This record gives sequence, structure tokens and C-alpha cells, in this order.
Amino acid sequence: MRAYRFDDPNSLDALRAREEAVGVPQRGEVLVRVRAVSLNYRDIAVVTGRYVWDSVPGLVPCSDAAGEIVAAGEGVRAFKPGDRVISIFHPRWFGGRPPKGAAMQTYGNGADGWLTEYKVVSQEAVVPLPDGISFEEGATLPCAATTAWTALSGQTPVRAGSTVLTLGTGGVSIFAVQLAKAMGARVIATTSSAGKAERLRALGADEVVNYTEIEAWGQHIRKTYTGGAGVDCVVEVGGPATVAESLRAVRPGGEVVLIGFLSEENPGIDYFLIKGSNAIVRSIGVGDRAALEDLVRAWRGAGLKAVIDKVFDFDDAKGAFEHLQAARHVGKVVIRVGG
Ligand SMILES: NC(=O)c1ccc[n+]([C@@H]2O[C@H](COP(=O)([O-])OP(=O)(O)OC[C@H]3O[C@@H](n4cnc5c(N)ncnc54)[C@H](OP(=O)(O)O)[C@@H]3O)[C@@H](O)[C@H]2O)c1
Repeated sequence: MRAYRFDDPNSLDALRAREEAVGVPQRGEVLVRVRAVSLNYRDIAVVTGRYVWDSVPGLVPCSDAAGEIVAAGEGVRAFKPGDRVISIFHPRWFGGRPPKGAAMQTYGNGADGWLTEYKVVSQEAVVPLPDGISFEEGATLPCAATTAWTALSGQTPVRAGSTVLTLGTGGVSIFAVQLAKAMGARVIATTSSAGKAERLRALGADEVVNYTEIEAWGQHIRKTYTGGAGVDCVVEVGGPATVAESLRAVRPGGEVVLIGFLSEENPGIDYFLIKGSNAIVRSIGVGDRAALEDLVRAWRGAGLKAVIDKVFDFDDAKGAFEHLQAARHVGKVVIRVGG
């Protein structure tokens, strides 16, 4: 089988496919034939040294995959050959608080990931992929969609009539727009271009603000679109350079959910801005197995369709990484594996 690894941990150019042995599932494990993988910003952040956690060099990249079980080890009850499955982002976080060391057990930074034709994992590290969801779409759900779900259904769940602010048009944010609309919320979205603004409106965003034209977009959104009250929830993917504006946009008692670190600059943050917001600032790490199962149920129940910007062939995996890095995409970038 072929599996990709980075020969040089500091360069996207060093992504190479090589022949490796197909693993044999042991007790409680399954062998998955991978059919699709989706990329997340972290897959680039790991290689370029911008990830929040340490990374082991030379690993197979990518956390998100869909595929079919081709063999099951002794004692496997949950699956049989032929079953369609998707990967779980945190292979050992089943519920409750994250287990110790969870951040270093995730695929691509702490353990071999899914950019491979076959992979052996514990039967507990995959969940069923329902009929009606393609492998390409299923592969988009483990990280970005689950993160959006955790953000919106979290400490103060978004309800019909809530106002949600999303930032940009990347994977997490587009899922957040779709899920928030399905929950009955009003969505205000920011983006960098008029073309992307149109895509956001087509997906249901009620208001769209171009953050390259309106620098003080937090205050602007609060005043113009919430009558000064502030939004109920900010799905904060920008990080150091956007969190101050997010705090200016949120209402007292609302939530700023810290997710990302897209911005390169790190100007620091004013304590009095956090204190004065009277908001909950909650940092999340994707979510547990139960969150993925809930998300899949909600996704199917609401009849949502993932926004897939482009699908690349396995042989052109590097092209997929470059496409994501260029940040002209809307939604998800997917790699098809096998025929
Ligand atoms: N903590 C967690 O659980 C978790 C889970 C998933 C992802 N993340 C993190 O969340 C972030 C988003 O991930 P992703 O996979 O959705 O990324 P992505 O698909 O690569 O998103 C890229 C898009 O974000 C927007 N963007 C870029 N810089 C921005 C900035 N300074 N301010 C506002 N928007 C900006 C751009 O859209 P526009 O041109 O439309 O502005 C860009 O196209 C990353 O930092 C990722 O590592 C964290």
C-alpha cells in the first residue's frame, strides 16, 4: 500500500508517497481501506511549525478520513467487513474531560494519520458513516464539523433566535454557518472578498461584513446588526489578531469560543477587554466521540450537505495541501483515495 509522509518536517514540498506494509488488525482492532481524506488548517500548521502542540517528525499526516472496514480482529463486535466508517479526531477521548495527553495522541502530530491507503485502528476510534453520506463528505466531518458543533452546542447552546458570528470561509466557519442556520440562529459572517461574501449569503448568512474594508468589525457588527446588544456566540477561528474584535462583538453572558490561530501576528490582548465583555471565553479542542456521533446524527437529520471546494486525487495530495495553503477555498478540501 502507499502512505504519505513528510521527508522534511518543515516543508510542504517534502510530502512523498512510499510503499509500506498493510497492518494486520489485532484483538479489538479493524483494518480500514481509506476512501477519502479531508484537510484542515492544522495539517499545514503541523508542517510549518505553527501548530499549538508539539509534533513528532515523519508521521503520516491528516486526522480526517472515511473508508470501509476490510478486516476485523478477534473480539470486534462493533463492525464487520464492508461497514462504512469515519475517523474520530481524538482516538481515546470518548466523553467527559479530555484524557491526559490527548493532544499528543492525535493524528498527524502525535500519531500516524490517515493519508494512506489502509490503516489499522481500534474499533473505538471510528464511528459508522450513514448511508446517503458519501466517503468524500464523510471525510469532512471528524475535525472541522465536529469543532463547529462543539462550539455551537457547548456551554451555552445556540438556540433558535440566537445570533452567531462566524469568521472567514474556511472549513470550521462554513460548517458553523450551516449548523447555526439549521439550529434557527441568525448568522453574521465576516470574510475577505465580495465573491466569498456571495457564497456565504447563498449558504444562509444573514449579514456579511468584509473585514478588510471595516477594520473595527467587532464594534461595527455590534452596533449595526445587534442594536448595540452584541452577538450570543462567536466561533473564533482567527486567533490572536481577531480575538479583540470578537470580544467587542459579543454580548454580556455570550460566548467567544476560541478555536483557531489563523493570523500570523500576535499583538497580545487587553485584560480589561476580556473583563469588560462579561462574556464566557471558552477554548475547545474539536470534541469527543459523543460530539462526532451527535454531529453526524444532526447533519443527517437536517439534510445538510458539506461544502467541498475541490477534490484531489491521491497522487496529487501535495496539490491539495497547496490549495488549502493558498486560502482561496470555501469550505473543505478533500483527497480521494483509491478508485
Ligand atoms: N481548537 C479546535 O478544536 C480546532 C479545530 C479545527 C480547527 N481549528 C483551527 O481553526 C482555524 C480554522 O481552521 P480551518 O481548517 O477551518 O481553516 P481553513 O479552512 O484553512 O480557513 C481558512 C480561511 O480562514 C479565513 N481567514 C484567514 N485568516 C483570517 C484572519 N486573520 N481573520 C479571519 N479569517 C481569516 C479565510 O477566509 P476568508 O478569506 O473568507 O476570510 C481563509 O480562507 C485554524 O487555526 C485551525 O487550526 C481548531
